[in-house]
Amino acid sequence: MRHIMVMNAKGGCGKSTLATNIASYFVNEGATVALADYDPQRSSLDWLERRPENRLPIAGVAGFDGGLRRVPRNADFVVIDAPARSHDKELTDLVNHAETIVVPVLPSTIDMQATTTFIQELKAVPKIANKRAKIATVANRVRDNTLIFDDLDEYLTKTKVPYVATLREAQNYVRAYTRGLGIFELPEYLAWPDWDEWEPLTAWLRSVRSQP
Ligand SMILES: Nc1ncnc2c1ncn2[C@@H]1O[C@H](COP(=O)(O)OP(=O)(O)O)[C@@H](O)[C@H]1O
Ligand SMILES: [Mg+2]
Repeated sequence: MRHIMVMNAKGGCGKSTLATNIASYFVNEGATVALADYDPQRSSLDWLERRPENRLPIAGVAGFDGGLRRVPRNADFVVIDAPARSHDKELTDLVNHAETIVVPVLPSTIDMQATTTFIQELKAVPKIANKRAKIATVANRVRDNTLIFDDLDEYLTKTKVPYVATLREAQNYVRAYTRGLGIFELPEYLAWPDWDEWEPLTAWLRSVRSQP
């Protein structure tokens, strides 16, 4: 059973968007998937409630009352939507639930600043320092040809953490969330640019590079 956690201490950077899309990606690859929501805002569980019955099922787990108790035993993947503002012991406890951590970052000076601190905190967690958990960053809500994206791209390239994908700002994410779907479940003519952008992220998630 693999545990993939999407986290950043900064709110609004796309944690729930990435968590729901990672879950929908793997379920459409034929895997058994659980989505564990650790955020009391419960965006991932809300998304699951919107999911149409005729789509491949994803098991929901409410993680915020402690523990991953109700994860189905047969799950191949547990995708974890982590809460914002996790630091210190709470951060260490969260990291102990995962071997793979994806950190979304927005093209914004405030977010880059906050992420610098967060990545330092992550690297200090023993599980990550000892390489028993792997981390990668993803640029999210990017608009091409903006100076702030150039700054983000340069910033993520310089951090000593693998920078695996750049996802554009697109209404597809909003549409898909509303319908309880991932972008992989939208029609190809609408979503193909997003599918292309996800390829390096899903390749990293499938590869040994994302596993201890
Ligand atoms: N790539 C994207 N394109 C467009 N909107 C996005 C994108 N990623 C996230 N959003 C929107 O940004 C807001 C915050 O994203 P969300 O996933 O809820 O962040 P978090 O879980 O980190 O708080 C939501 O309204 C979401 O629909
Ligand atoms: Mg969220």
